[in-house]
Amino acid sequence: MGFLATTGAFALVYVAARLAAFFYRLLCPVKLNIKKFGEWAIVTGSTDGIGRAYAIELAKRGLNIILISRTKEKLEQVAKEINEKNSDVHVKTIAVDFTKDSSIYTTIREEIRGLDIGILVNNVGMSYEYPELFDKVEDSAKLVQNMIRCNVDSVAYMTQMILPDMLQKRRGLIVNVSSVSGRRPVPLLGLYSGTKGFVDLFSRSLAAECATRGVLIQSLCPGFVVSKLSGIRKSSLFSPTPEQFVRSAIDRVSLPFTTGYWAHELQDFGQSLLPDFLSNKLTMLVLGGVRAKALKKRNKGQ
Ligand SMILES: NC(=O)c1ccc[n+]([C@@H]2O[C@H](COP(=O)([O-])OP(=O)(O)OC[C@H]3O[C@@H](n4cnc5c(N)ncnc54)[C@H](OP(=O)(O)O)[C@@H]3O)[C@@H](O)[C@H]2O)c1
Repeated sequence: MGFLATTGAFALVYVAARLAAFFYRLLCPVKLNIKKFGEWAIVTGSTDGIGRAYAIELAKRGLNIILISRTKEKLEQVAKEINEKNSDVHVKTIAVDFTKDSSIYTTIREEIRGLDIGILVNNVGMSYEYPELFDKVEDSAKLVQNMIRCNVDSVAYMTQMILPDMLQKRRGLIVNVSSVSGRRPVPLLGLYSGTKGFVDLFSRSLAAECATRGVLIQSLCPGFVVSKLSGIRKSSLFSPTPEQFVRSAIDRVSLPFTTGYWAHELQDFGQSLLPDFLSNKLTMLVLGGVRAKALKKRNKGQ
């Protein structure tokens, strides 16, 4: 075979493999009964947005729930809501702030001692107040500490706490909430993108380590979802509500990597076709606009 024909054959195989992986993820033919993993599910950052929707949906599907978040009153409110709709489900709440030092993990360990944890959803996360150049972020040392503790440490420490028992029982599911922003560079949200990149690679590495040992680990990389963090108030084709998003994501837990939602899968595939320089330019343009708007609003308020 000549050089051109060989190159063409390799290119065809590559394109076919990428398309096959894309369609498999889009359609996700393997649906799992999530009750088989164990009696209790832990959800971090569970009083709002995606985490709250996970807690409510997992309870609906028959799991007892451990809610972990910062604000006690909001935790009690979500627990009440779950109990009103599912009287046979037990709910436990743990109020901790994931930006604090690692002693919070001793508290969590004590609170969950003896419980059969089948599912862990590492959802808690924070982002910038508005997109900004890293060197121009206000109080950047604090942001670095808080964001790494909240977005990175929480995933690593919670997994380190829960995974050994799951492996011993040879059953369990860990969903680590990354983001499409963790899949490629996001200028003006550099630190956020970096923390989510950690979550994605950490999860996919562990997924490979655990594949034959009975425990599923998933890197979940959503696009925009309506929430406080995203600042998106109204749902649309590419920005589902947390409830729509989570119903779809739970049906995709068999996948070690997924965006969780069909429209985000299309978006991620499209973005992966762009060369970095173009993707970076577009992101700078779009997020630069968001930054300008946020600054204008802030200056008006002063
Ligand atoms: N929404 C999106 O478009 C989107 C896209 C991709 C990825 N994600 C990821 O999805 C996850 C959830 O995001 P979301 O949009 O649902 O956020 P959200 O609506 O702002 O909710 C965040 C939740 O985390 C809790 N929380 C925040 N900081 C905390 C801390 N320091 N300690 C303890 N709890 C804390 C909040 O509790 P309080 O109520 O007490 O503040 C709340 O329950 C994040 O990891 C985010 O990066 C979101």
